[in-house]
Amino acid sequence: MDSGSGLRTERFRAALSPVESGSADERTVAWLQSVALGFHEPRYESKHVSALVEAYDADGRWLTGVYDDAAPVHAWNPAAPVATYATMTHELNTGGSLLPAHQITSVSVRPTHRRRGILRHMITSDLRRAKDEGFAVAALGASEAVIYGRFGFGVATSEVAVQVDARGRLELTVPPSGTTVLADLAQLESLAPEIFRRHLERHRGALGRQIGYAKRAAGLWGDLPEPEKDIRAAVHYDPSGTPDGYVTYKFLPWETEPHTLKVLDLVAVDDAARLELWRYLGSIDLVERITHSAAPDADPLPWALADRRRYAVKSHGDLLWLRPLDPAAMLRARGFEADGAVVLGIADPLDLASGRWLVQVDAGTATVTGLETDETPPSGVPVVEAGAAAFGSLYLGSVSAQVLAAAGGIRGSGADIEALGRLFDVARAPYCSTHF
Ligand SMILES: CC(C)(COP(=O)(O)OP(=O)(O)OC[C@H]1O[C@@H](n2cnc3c(N)ncnc32)[C@H](O)[C@@H]1OP(=O)(O)O)[C@@H](O)C(=O)NCCC(=O)NCCS
Repeated sequence: MDSGSGLRTERFRAALSPVESGSADERTVAWLQSVALGFHEPRYESKHVSALVEAYDADGRWLTGVYDDAAPVHAWNPAAPVATYATMTHELNTGGSLLPAHQITSVSVRPTHRRRGILRHMITSDLRRAKDEGFAVAALGASEAVIYGRFGFGVATSEVAVQVDARGRLELTVPPSGTTVLADLAQLESLAPEIFRRHLERHRGALGRQIGYAKRAAGLWGDLPEPEKDIRAAVHYDPSGTPDGYVTYKFLPWETEPHTLKVLDLVAVDDAARLELWRYLGSIDLVERITHSAAPDADPLPWALADRRRYAVKSHGDLLWLRPLDPAAMLRARGFEADGAVVLGIADPLDLASGRWLVQVDAGTATVTGLETDETPPSGVPVVEAGAAAFGSLYLGSVSAQVLAAAGGIRGSGADIEALGRLFDVARAPYCSTHF
């Protein structure tokens, strides 16, 4: 942090110890233990730490720690950071292309150091760096909804937690297609990322995944980075014999009433594969209830069930938050489902993405031209202004311009907001199933 605060900031890559083979270096261990503390997880054992270092390295994560060198004698590990923050990069499907997103994760500040501006310092300097490095968009998942709007992040995708009554067989109205097999878990370490890649390329809102997903799919990791023995998986093949979906799940302890099967991860290249995986799940004996906490907003399942009341939405929550760094690049990367033109201004509290652009969409692709502040917009083109967070929410199309305008995030005349809505509306809500 700034000189005078008494705090020191370091940014580094997770690393193994140079002296003790197979263990993490002390700085990395201390950083990971601080994250565990921040999120109320148990302390990591050294085998967990080395597994995480390997995975973080493969993810290309950068770790930031803020250190208080004036810790008194009874303080827990004076070498551990009082605040943590990490970043990595994966591609985001914008409906038109795959755009590298600057992802922020592992944000924690020790209770004794809260509300002194440590998060503000970490996030503003990081976003500035990401912009300088050429990222168009930053992304995160928030543990609390009140923290990140002030930094220009808006909710861009949601997911639903569903509960399906599975007593008897789950009858679907769509004809079966392809085949589903109980999978050899070990093979999912390489197959799951292949299937996810195809899902990513086809679904607006999908975001590339960190390596932990493949490890969990293969049962090599559970909640902790160590083998989990009760994970099962199934793979679906399309009619030509190509794998196009997988599901991992576990049966909750027998004492759970009704007997419940919990879906851990379900990735499908298309709707047919998604529904076939559900058909498989619904055919498992001794299961009375199936839960999935990360289903899409636009889920075909209830519409394909013979008895749609078997499908209950238990909760609906925000998942991906986006923040513009280079709005013009975001707009050029986006796939539009309607053509038209609009002058879009962005007001940014951190002044990273402020400006005004003429956006002309033709055949689904935008041509974006910067306008000077005092430049008169071309006549007849709708003119609107969005806050950075509202633009983050509008971008993937999960919420309409009209709704954002009603909530105060976008300003313009009624007709101009409607025109913006027509340009940004998408036929199907975006779906992100990547938690980070
Ligand atoms: C959330 C957390 C990281 C905030 O860190 P911090 O260093 O105390 O935050 P700052 O002092 O930099 O505060 C930045 C701003 O956010 C606000 N803020 C921070 N946390 C907030 C919260 N939980 N609720 C409401 N406002 C919050 C501050 O009031 C401040 O506002 P201002 O600058 O507009 O006056 C910290 O409380 C924490 O570690 N919480 C537990 C873990 C967690 O929730 N992490 C987020 C993971 S996504």
